[in-house]
Amino acid sequence: MNKVHVSASTKEYDVTVGAGLNYGECLKEIHSPCKLMIVSDDTVAGLYLDSATQSFTDAGFTVESYVFPHGEQSKNLSVAEKLMEKMVDKGITKTDLLVALGGGVVGDLTGFAASAFLRGMDFVQLPTTLLAAIDSSVGGKTAVDLMNGKNMVGAFHQPIGVFCDIDTFKTLPEETYAEGMAEAIKYGIIYDEPLFTRMERKDISDEDLVKRCVEIKAEVVAKDEFDKGPRHILNFGHTLGHAIETKSGYTIGHGQGVAVGMAAVCGAMLNSGDFKRVLSVLKSYKLPVNTTYDLHELAMLSKADKKRHGDVIRVVLPTKIGEVYLKDVTPDEWEKIITDGFHAMEEN
Ligand SMILES: NC(=O)c1ccc[n+]([C@@H]2O[C@H](COP(=O)([O-])OP(=O)(O)OC[C@H]3O[C@@H](n4cnc5c(N)ncnc54)[C@H](O)[C@@H]3O)[C@@H](O)[C@H]2O)c1
Ligand SMILES: [Zn+2]
Repeated sequence: MNKVHVSASTKEYDVTVGAGLNYGECLKEIHSPCKLMIVSDDTVAGLYLDSATQSFTDAGFTVESYVFPHGEQSKNLSVAEKLMEKMVDKGITKTDLLVALGGGVVGDLTGFAASAFLRGMDFVQLPTTLLAAIDSSVGGKTAVDLMNGKNMVGAFHQPIGVFCDIDTFKTLPEETYAEGMAEAIKYGIIYDEPLFTRMERKDISDEDLVKRCVEIKAEVVAKDEFDKGPRHILNFGHTLGHAIETKSGYTIGHGQGVAVGMAAVCGAMLNSGDFKRVLSVLKSYKLPVNTTYDLHELAMLSKADKKRHGDVIRVVLPTKIGEVYLKDVTPDEWEKIITDGFHAMEEN
């Protein structure tokens, strides 16, 4: 079992990573017994809600639960509202806890409800996807989607603890696991060449992978909790990735979009040797590296990205594996970068 400490200005907490974690015992270490509302989606609840409930009950907590249909389309205000109405019905108070059991959709929605219910209450993350473990459960960004924009309503609200049982990854579909790997590869390219090499060689356990990625995220978040500058490097691959996700009507997953986005900027910026390494590691996890969408249209969609400043888009560009920088570009310059990237792909 490993613990990574997160030092955000608004909260200090640990991310516990291990196989076969006892959630109830983990929570008892940081919070006295109270009422819990476990929030989950129907897929994850079918697999893990009973055992999680038992573990919390054994540790002295009183457990209620709220389950909604799985998928991004549930990450909206109406589901958040139903959750909060159930919290009122069940007598949940400000000193009780919300518990997010699931992937990034469950974590983002639960965190958002925790930030707003009674003007803010504490919550805990129990991530069950690789993506949630290494990315969404840590760092305090919470949100729900609007019909016409992803993550448009949200708040910064840190959890009081994150307990990641890597055994839950065993039931993940291969494609969902690979989407998490796209984010892990992102950490390697932006921050940590040795981590990238270990993924390339398939020489890293899930526990070590989660620990190292969470350490990187914790370092970046500690420097810039409210996403004013340095934290933008975590958006590597996401500018084009978000455009692809949007264009597909969210039929292309987040991690898949990010994989294509990383491949494009790496093609434009890296030397041929490094670019080949990036393509090869992405393909080894069966992640896509190309798109059939029109690049001009994608560049125009990027104008709507939340990382936009006026008429320029803030993009993250690599200098080598393990190092990136931020640059403000116009939509035309952005289109040229991604066009160059896909041309380089044809040559490699
Ligand atoms: N807050 C942040 O900082 C942040 C960062 C990255 C992504 N996100 C958000 O995270 C979401 C994507 O997260 P995700 O990829 O975890 O999606 P998800 O929560 O939809 O999970 C993917 C699918 O896997 C299923 N699942 C989850 N755990 C499982 C398990 N252990 N076994 C079997 N099936 C399981 C879910 O039911 C779902 O169908 C997006 O909404 C994205 O915006 C947020
Ligand atoms: Zn992401």
